This record gives sequence, C-alpha cells and structure tokens, in this order.
Amino acid sequence: MSQMFSLEGKTFLITGGTRGIGRAVSLRFARAGATVVSNYVRDQKAADSLLAQAEEERLRLMLCRADLTIEKGLETIEQQMSDLLEGFHGLVHCAATGVHKPFDELTLRHYDWTFALNVRSFFDLVKRLLPRFSPGASIVAVSSQGSSRVVPAYSIVGATKGALESLARHMAVELAPRGIRVNIITPGAVATEAWASMPDAEARLADMAKRAPLGRLVTAEEVAQAAHFLCSDAAQSIIGQTLTVDGGACLPV
Ligand SMILES: NC(=O)c1ccc[n+]([C@@H]2O[C@H](COP(=O)([O-])OP(=O)(O)OC[C@H]3O[C@@H](n4cnc5c(N)ncnc54)[C@H](OP(=O)(O)O)[C@@H]3O)[C@@H](O)[C@H]2O)c1
Repeated sequence: MSQMFSLEGKTFLITGGTRGIGRAVSLRFARAGATVVSNYVRDQKAADSLLAQAEEERLRLMLCRADLTIEKGLETIEQQMSDLLEGFHGLVHCAATGVHKPFDELTLRHYDWTFALNVRSFFDLVKRLLPRFSPGASIVAVSSQGSSRVVPAYSIVGATKGALESLARHMAVELAPRGIRVNIITPGAVATEAWASMPDAEARLADMAKRAPLGRLVTAEEVAQAAHFLCSDAAQSIIGQTLTVDGGACLPV
C-alpha cells in the first residue's frame, strides 16, 4: 500500500464498528495498519465474529462494548481510549439507530432515542476525546441521503442526519486550526441488517440498485474505502466536505 494510505501507527475509534458499514471500516482500517477500537452495544455474536476475523488476520483490533447514549458508556470509551499509549488519530461515527414509522405514529420518545445516538453521542464523544486527538487526526460522520431528501418512514432519522452534517461542518471549521479534519460520508443504500426494520426493504433495495448508474447497490467495503481515504494523508486538504458513495444514484437524470 502506498505510504500515503498507510494508517500504520495510528489509532481509530469506530462507533457501531462491529456490524454492517462499521465492521467493514474497522477491518479496512486495521488492514491498513491502524490500531482499531470497534464499539458496539448489544450484538455480542457480531462483535465476537469481528474479533475472530481480526485475530485470524493478526490485526490490531479491540472491542469496546459501550452504549453511547448513556454517561456510563461514554465514560467506558473515554477510559479505553486514554489507556492507549499511541495517541488518537480519528473517529468514524457509524453508530445510528432509528424508528421507521409514518410521522403521525412517531412520539417524542422515538425522537429523543434517535437524536441521542445519531447526533448527541457524536457531539459528546468529540468533546470528551478532543484533548486526546493528535494533529492530523480525522473525524468522519456517516450520514445518509435522508439528511436532504425525503425518504418514506424516515423523518426522524433524516432530521438527525441533517443535524449531524451541520454539526460536522461547524466542527470542521473550528477544529481545522488544531489540525483535526472533519468530513462526512453519505452512503447510498447498503444491504445491511439496518434494512430489516424498514418497510418494503427488499423492493426498495431492488429499485435503488436498478436506478443507480453503477447498476447495483454499493457495498459496505466501498463505503469503508471512502472512510479510509478521508482518514489518510491523501485527504489532508479535504475539510468539511460530504463524500457521496452511492454509485451515482443521487444524480438527477
Ligand atoms: N445501510 C444503509 O443502507 C445506509 C445508508 C446510508 C447511511 N447509512 C448509515 O451508515 C451507518 C451504519 O449503518 P449500518 O447499516 O451499517 O448499521 P447497522 O448494521 O444497523 O449497525 C449499527 C451499529 O450501531 C451500533 N449501535 C446501535 N446502538 C448503539 C448504541 N446505543 N451505542 C453504541 N453503538 C450502537 C450497533 O451495535 P450492536 O451491533 O451491538 O447493535 C451496530 O454496530 C449509520 O450511520 C447509517 O445511518 C446506512
């Protein structure tokens, strides 16, 4: 691998890092030489499977079970990151949740639950870890096209992603003088377990695959490649941008 894309000697935290897109980011970063802390909260089987894969490949990857929506979980992550000696070179915020219902069935509880993970935890994590970031560090917020487009049964999740993107752009400007870059990735549809709770998931995935100029859905690995690029030295002048990884699906034709 070209030196520019090497993550050797660097340490990254990947939230929601044991399933779906986060798992692919965790493996990609570890294969590029990074020490990776992969966060999750409930699915121990998925976490164990990632760890087994990492051990088989002799990658430097460790798990961190922590609920990012509660104080105790955030303290656990903070402690684990401070125990690492090498310094801290970035964060990819993949963790997200959501309630996929029509607007009139949504409640304030759904609203608070979704914002707590998708936006508030990102704000809180960056605030807590800020003193530990090394110059040249890179933060990536994983958003979705629902931040700017209307997606069926997606209103609260879409609103969280809009807020996440705005927060990331403001952080990008304010943190750039400290040598910390912040960017956003907007994946197109990726067939992960997150789709299990979406209405008409199969039909919608098939339709999106058909509409994309690429002729298929993008994969979690392709999204991970974009995250790798943004966290590498090759992206050192890219600040506050949104990188869309959707096979051209969002292009107006
Ligand atoms: N899949 C898509 O089509 C798509 C499209 C556009 C954008 N995105 C975005 O890409 C990101 C990853 O999506 P995905 O489909 O890969 O998701 P996913 O498969 O549902 O994985 C979600 C991850 O978040 C973790 N998580 C959930 N609640 C948590 C909490 N309270 N604290 C800490 N971690 C928590 C889960 O941990 P457990 O495994 O322990 O539950 C899991 O690792 C999300 O931000 C999503 O909005 C996805």
